[in-house]
Amino acid sequence: MLSEKLTNALSEQINAEYYAAYLYLSMSAIANDLGLKGFANWLFVQAQEEMAHGTHIYEYMIERNAIPILKAIEQPPSSFAGANEIFKAVYVHEQKVTALINTIATLALQESDHACYQFMMWYVNEQVEEEANATDVLDRLHLIGETDGLLLTLDMELAARVFVNPFPAKTAN
Ligand code: FEO
Repeated sequence: MLSEKLTNALSEQINAEYYAAYLYLSMSAIANDLGLKGFANWLFVQAQEEMAHGTHIYEYMIERNAIPILKAIEQPPSSFAGANEIFKAVYVHEQKVTALINTIATLALQESDHACYQFMMWYVNEQVEEEANATDVLDRLHLIGETDGLLLTLDMELAARVFVNPFPAKTAN
């Protein structure tokens, strides 16, 4: 059984992951509107990952005999000026998520809930990758500057990203 504090914190994290999905879906629609189909694809795949993260936490809470508290998901912004602004916002958001994840991991340790701490370690490591992905695209956008041809090359590269569920369904036995 999870403590009340961890139940609340993990419930908030489900909300944060689903908000991230909403945010990236909104960004994907904007990128699509800007003609950046590859950026749109990358963000759409990212939104799918965020939903998988949220669902995975939900399933973990059920496994621990807790009842997730599912609150309303905030409306994300519906306008960004361009790819640079979008990825700056992605990076800022991922930093916020990292802070939330670290807070939950610390709480789990304080409560000597080593199972929950171990569960959170996947997210701690994932956030290193999430922040690196955002800064990688931001760095390249910085190098590209105003060169449209290079922006389209990056767009084509981002078009290749495909969704791979990080938590494949458990096989029945
Ligand atoms: Fe699920 Fe991008 O953090």
